[in-house]
Amino acid sequence: MLFLSSCANLSARSLYDTLDPGLKNSIAKSPKIGVSVLYSELQSNKQYENEIIKRFSSVTPENAMKFEVLHPQPGESNFTEADFIIDWAKLNKLNVRGHPIIWHRQIPSWLKEMELPDSKFQELFESHISELVSRYKDSVLAWDVVNEAFNSDGSLRKSIWLKNLGPEYIKDAFILAHHANPRAKLFYNDYDIEKPGIKSDAVYNLLIRLLAIKVPIHGIGFQMHLRPGFTPTEMEIETTLKKFADLGLEIHITELDVAIPVPSTDEDRQKQKEKFEMVARICEKMESCKVLSLWGLHDGVSWIPSHFKGLGEATLFDEQINKKECYEAFREGLNKRLY
Ligand code: XIL
Repeated sequence: MLFLSSCANLSARSLYDTLDPGLKNSIAKSPKIGVSVLYSELQSNKQYENEIIKRFSSVTPENAMKFEVLHPQPGESNFTEADFIIDWAKLNKLNVRGHPIIWHRQIPSWLKEMELPDSKFQELFESHISELVSRYKDSVLAWDVVNEAFNSDGSLRKSIWLKNLGPEYIKDAFILAHHANPRAKLFYNDYDIEKPGIKSDAVYNLLIRLLAIKVPIHGIGFQMHLRPGFTPTEMEIETTLKKFADLGLEIHITELDVAIPVPSTDEDRQKQKEKFEMVARICEKMESCKVLSLWGLHDGVSWIPSHFKGLGEATLFDEQINKKECYEAFREGLNKRLY
């Protein structure tokens, strides 16, 4: 069902044609530059919507495709938010990255509370994947199929999926998604794997094993939530991304933000600019880096303050949606075309 609010009914073409080209200009080639989008903001904030249409070429639903939103009650599917974003993206000629199909968070309580093991679980897992991927088979061509399956020590996370289905669930999720849409590019997505180490190695080894048995997996998503305490160097990021690309995988940077202590100092903001520029430059010059996506358009909607005590200001725009200095630094990183 086409379900568009009045704020989404604006003429996308005229906006596209008349406004400052911003990042759209620097994404004529790969990588495509994206941002996560919130259904509630698209419904209510025209400036938010306009900035996204004006500057970006790819969007990721930030929450609208999560299990708790899609299946609030047992036996129920609610695609209102996801459908809205898909229709809006189509209208505005934006690519959509589907996110996340199988994840351990934002799971409704009815599912968490199911008696374990439950034979219905396999059925639920299968129908969730098939229904979601096939519903958007004409509009979502890249999916984060499995998100954050590993702990920081490299062991598999004891999610409801692992507990109920065993470690095979990862492979099965990719096979089911491929079956539902053989054209879609399927990604494994995780955080803190941009830096060499136990977790990154564990993901790498899993992908080698899956590729060896011809599981349909086409790419790796590096979330790239940079923050004090997680500050990989340019060399570390480049080496890691290249190692995965050498497996023949497409690279997407899926959730870039750079959190700093708040209130921030000039020095914090300077370091932040350097990080944004660095990540843009790395992706820009790497042939296999096809999408570079930000998490949260502006500081007022960023997930960082509510999830990381004392950190914030992690995006390219302030709460009034004005460009910050780091926006220009990021753009600079993209304009240095080093192929
Ligand atoms: C976050 C959203 O931004 C928040 O709005 C929500 O409350 C929690 O989830 N890794 C992911 C994303 O894969 O889906 C998460 O998004 C951030 C961490």
